[in-house]
Amino acid sequence: MSLEAKIADADTLLEITAREYAPAVFASSFGAEDMVLTDLIARHRRAIEIFTLDTGRLPEESHRLIGRAAERYGIAFQVFYPDAAALEQFHQQHGANPFLRSVELRKGCCGLRKVEPLRRALAGKRAWLTGLRREQAASRQQVPTIADDADYGLKKISPLAEWTAKDVWEYLRRFDVPYNELHDRGYPSIGCAPCTRAITVGEDPRAGRWWWEQESGKECGLHESRRVEKSSALKTA
Ligand code: ADX
Ligand code: SF4
Repeated sequence: MSLEAKIADADTLLEITAREYAPAVFASSFGAEDMVLTDLIARHRRAIEIFTLDTGRLPEESHRLIGRAAERYGIAFQVFYPDAAALEQFHQQHGANPFLRSVELRKGCCGLRKVEPLRRALAGKRAWLTGLRREQAASRQQVPTIADDADYGLKKISPLAEWTAKDVWEYLRRFDVPYNELHDRGYPSIGCAPCTRAITVGEDPRAGRWWWEQESGKECGLHESRRVEKSSALKTA
């Protein structure tokens, strides 16, 4: 399928989501994929609110991009922060960088800094959009474009599920879309600063995320649900 056809399909999906599943929201980490979706949403003024989960540990480059994107698109991105009291308690108990000590503590940190704020961000919504792609990781090979997310009780839509990294970068260059400067420094996947490193030639695109852990468990809980079922279609009228 050509990039033009993929763009048209993604755009149709955004249009239907905005029309039939209001209120719909887009979870953006401001990674390369998310900038494609931001550009498409802004270009056609889709009624889809864009939010980000600011974990408090994001790299400065990500914050700079949020500012540049807000300026370029004139969009007020919604920001969700972790619950301060819960975080204080967790860190008093486990120290400032608990994620290095065990997978359990790492998931605890992701739970407080990402998953709980995500829950708040999705409350009362009917659909959420993500920039997930099948090619990103073995654990994502089955990512459906449209799914019923029973955990949150809404549609989960990943319009770029079938896109390749080449498609994403062709789009960003063609439309001169702003992107995170860390991508030019060997970071295909960007999360929190202490848990993300650059990769070297031949490494898996997600090798730089929680690189001290076993490959199999490397998800933060945002997309780990066992209760996401592939669903055939969206309403169109
Ligand atoms: S993660 O689960 O390992 O962090 P990844 O960085 O690959 O995920 O991003 C996959 C998708 O999850 C993004 O396209 C975006 O939709 C969502 N996402 C990840 N991190 C955030 C964040 N901090 N804020 C909002 N959405 C996010
Ligand atoms: Fe905490 Fe690291 Fe997860 Fe960020 S990626 S929430 S710092 S464990």
